[in-house]
Amino acid sequence: MEVIILPTAEEASEVATRLVSRQIREKPDSVLGLATGGTPKRLYEMLVRMHREEGLDLGRATTFNLDEYVGLGPDHPASYHRFMVKYLFSHVNLTRERIHIPDGLAADVPAHCAAYEQSIREAGGIDLQILGLGSDGHLGFNEPGSSLASRTRIKTLTERTRNDNARYFGEGEEVPHHVITMGLATIAASRMCLLLAFGKAKAEAVAASVEGPVTASVPGSLLQFHPRTKVLLDTEAAALLTRADYYQWVYNNKPAWQTDL
Ligand code: PGA
Repeated sequence: MEVIILPTAEEASEVATRLVSRQIREKPDSVLGLATGGTPKRLYEMLVRMHREEGLDLGRATTFNLDEYVGLGPDHPASYHRFMVKYLFSHVNLTRERIHIPDGLAADVPAHCAAYEQSIREAGGIDLQILGLGSDGHLGFNEPGSSLASRTRIKTLTERTRNDNARYFGEGEEVPHHVITMGLATIAASRMCLLLAFGKAKAEAVAASVEGPVTASVPGSLLQFHPRTKVLLDTEAAALLTRADYYQWVYNNKPAWQTDL
């Protein structure tokens, strides 16, 4: 696990953008795992700018989103489908047939989840998975208590997550209780993970995920088992890490051959 702490979310998003764009340039048919929420918005905006101004070509890439609310169709303003169209899909040249998002309106949820897993396998697995972190430590919508061996399935949101996400819903509108999410084992099978967390509301979850024991009670801690994970933080999200100085030193003193940012 490589922990990279930058002064601001803007700078951390720039580093994330360099990593994602390099992945696409080096392997144009990359399979990308995508996250939604406030955290990756700047990353998507920066990728869109690179597409427009520097010719970043996503035409051969395949994408799989982490999660979606059960009951929300692709046109619902708070659906993750709509989020992705708004912030990324309508601005870049991804190929429609290679975009995958769990279907919140699936009639047979278990069959849909099994098919989603199958699609990931058929695409050759995820090369680079972008992740946010819930204030309760969730990855995707794998809430505390999720099996570390879980695959794509239905989950029930905690009240904390429903409250955190209420801002995306209209006045008086209920945040759904159920979601479809890639499982923790699905995420763990990605070749590289990029976890982004910004702001002081994430500091506890970051410390528990990076420096606490590996436990299903903190799904983010799963990444301690992952062989190739980068954790990109701003100073506020890193505030409760006990080894922050060490991570900073490592980042600032890499041998030239190891500098990949
Ligand atoms: P956020 O959500 O980016 O909106 O803070 C992160 C998450 O719930 O994974």
